[in-house]
Amino acid sequence: MHHFNTKSDIQQQIAKWRSQGLSIGFVPTMGNLHAGHLSLLDTAARHTDRIITSIYVNPSQFAAGEDFDNYPRTLAEDMDRLTETGKCHAVYTPQHMYSDHHSTMVSPTGVAEGLETASRPHFFTGVATIVLKLFNHVPADKAIFGEKDYQQLLVVRQMVHDLDMNIDIISSPTLRDTDGLALSSRNNYLSPEERQIAPALHHNLRDAAREIESGKSPDNICIAVERQLLEAGFSSVDYVQYRHCGSLKPADKFEQNTILLASARLGSTRLIDNFLL
Ligand code: PAF
Repeated sequence: MHHFNTKSDIQQQIAKWRSQGLSIGFVPTMGNLHAGHLSLLDTAARHTDRIITSIYVNPSQFAAGEDFDNYPRTLAEDMDRLTETGKCHAVYTPQHMYSDHHSTMVSPTGVAEGLETASRPHFFTGVATIVLKLFNHVPADKAIFGEKDYQQLLVVRQMVHDLDMNIDIISSPTLRDTDGLALSSRNNYLSPEERQIAPALHHNLRDAAREIESGKSPDNICIAVERQLLEAGFSSVDYVQYRHCGSLKPADKFEQNTILLASARLGSTRLIDNFLL
């Protein structure tokens, strides 16, 4: 497994692979890798010949007071995990993504509006900007994004379409612990008591999906899920929403290709999850 820190080094390697007729897959991450990330590599391996994983904790997607300083940085362990998969051909750990004079940001609207943006207005501008920069550093054929961050997946797809970028976005299903909790680096912040409560997020969304499928009012079901999450021990609920999968526009009755999306806080940890209908 190669390890590169600079844009010119990773691009030289990509040019070598391309000259051998090999296709390139890209898995952008912020590190602190868990089995969920490794499943993105499995998806990449089904679609491309060579896989590059980037590790970069992107300051522009954290607001002041969020967990940028405390975000777990575990490069040595991450490198070991990637080596063990036998599927990662190169790790890219860029050092300087923003110059002191950086003053251009990508500002997505459409699918970026509402949901996550209501609590984290800065978030998708930071994500879209770094993803565009990473795609310029790593000119891959396909990039893999997890369905757990469903709105992020759609924001990236929309950006690639709107800005005529030459890369395919492939989605990869959410990986869950045996009790249903979606794998996330932020699960590490949970106390043992909070970790017991956390799977209620998945269970309530799953049960709500069944209720909506049986014809109950999505609005009432979403309100009921909020109450159930608070009763289960969540400290607050940012949103529980039922939306169309492609546009993220509200859906008012059961239809195919819809999704329940939720975000709730357990103490100081904010969890998100979703359930496709
Ligand atoms: O999902 C993530 O880990 C990040 O938002 C991403 C896509 C790597 C951009 O920093």
